[in-house]
Amino acid sequence: MPATVIVGAQWGDEGKGKIVDLLAQESDLVCRYQGGPNAGHTVIVHGETFKFRHLPSGILSGKVSVLGAGCVVDPAVLLEEIDDLESRGVSAEPLRISGNAHLIMPWHIAIDGASEKRLGKLQIGTTRRGIGPAYADKAARLGIRVQDLLDPKILRQKIEVALAEKNIWLERVYEQQPFALEEVASRHEELAQRLRPYVADTSLLVDRALAEGKRVLLEGAQGTLLDLDHGTYPFVTSSNPIAGAAATGIGIGPTRIDEVLGVSKAYVTRVGAGPFPSEMEDTIATSVRELGQEYGTVTGRERRPGWLDLVALRYAVRLNGITSLALTKLDVLSALDQLQVCVRYRLPDGEETPDFPAHQSDFHHAEPVLQAVAGWGEPLDECATLADLPPAARAYVELVERELAVPVRLVGTGAAREQVLAKVS
Ligand code: IMP
Ligand code: MG
Repeated sequence: MPATVIVGAQWGDEGKGKIVDLLAQESDLVCRYQGGPNAGHTVIVHGETFKFRHLPSGILSGKVSVLGAGCVVDPAVLLEEIDDLESRGVSAEPLRISGNAHLIMPWHIAIDGASEKRLGKLQIGTTRRGIGPAYADKAARLGIRVQDLLDPKILRQKIEVALAEKNIWLERVYEQQPFALEEVASRHEELAQRLRPYVADTSLLVDRALAEGKRVLLEGAQGTLLDLDHGTYPFVTSSNPIAGAAATGIGIGPTRIDEVLGVSKAYVTRVGAGPFPSEMEDTIATSVRELGQEYGTVTGRERRPGWLDLVALRYAVRLNGITSLALTKLDVLSALDQLQVCVRYRLPDGEETPDFPAHQSDFHHAEPVLQAVAGWGEPLDECATLADLPPAARAYVELVERELAVPVRLVGTGAAREQVLAKVS
């Protein structure tokens, strides 16, 4: 399968980084198509932990690693990550950044934070990395792109134009300090010099690779329910994580995509605010948070755990055209005697539905219809294939397959790269 999209099927943090890292071993290129340093991918290789925000996790395998046009790039964060990686003996040389990707500028970060503060109780709970304001400027055609880094004169001019407006906004609307043109411009000229070698025509690069029959992984950040158009708006990110966006975000046609692998936890988590029908009660939530180490990679915030939500997952299968699933962190559920799975939502009018509500009020007021399922109560460390899983764990996986009519291809049983069980077909 030459072009495979890996997409988060929930609210992000499904463990995509680990699955991408695993599949990257058999791929030639690994590409990110949207998002920026709001993402946090944790990959553990031979006992060593790598946390990525910007870099596609394929960089660890030395594969050509692309940041596509649909991404937003914070140059300082990216360079810090490159330095960290190289200090640990991994080269960032295979990185290629699209010149069309937009830059996250210091005012985007300032506005993200100030706007959240102003929203108060109504805040979205963003990662405060400037994601929303950067995508907003892109849509408003005021953005500064990676290719602007290639020409110091253009770069300075664009910063000047942007600051003329942003500083008024910052001072008068948000009561924040303005930015000084000289400071921002000289700092970015420095950053530009270091990033220049990585800038490439990534659309052409990926197209050629596909034409040569190479295997390309297209890695989504965040998850389906955080999609700007189809997620739980306004509690979403400002880009499109869903699989269809892989084509636009990279600059290839949708007919080039062969497979879509959805990644879902065996339960659910969400960080930040917003409705969450299958959220667990406090005591169980606390133990799942501890067992699964459910704290944000980027912000360190506590994640909110919930029971596996098949209504939301069915929606993800539909929106992404998911052809197979990876079910991660099944081992975390080993500690619970009695499990629940959300099979339908009960809407305010009493109707029960297997389909994700199209209207926000229905979703906000949806009650989960929970089905009790037996736990397996034993660790999964000794399992080598899916067939080795305890019967109750196998039944859990089969329930997911049956409800969604999609095969579960991979199951995660621990944090390390090795702890993924594949279906023996
Ligand atoms: P933003 O992407 O920083 O604008 O944040 C918008 C929403 O998306 C917030 O609820 C964040 O918690 C959530 N979010 C953004 N990136 C991630 C991620 O990588 N994992 C999980 N949630 C995320
Ligand atoms: Mg994450």
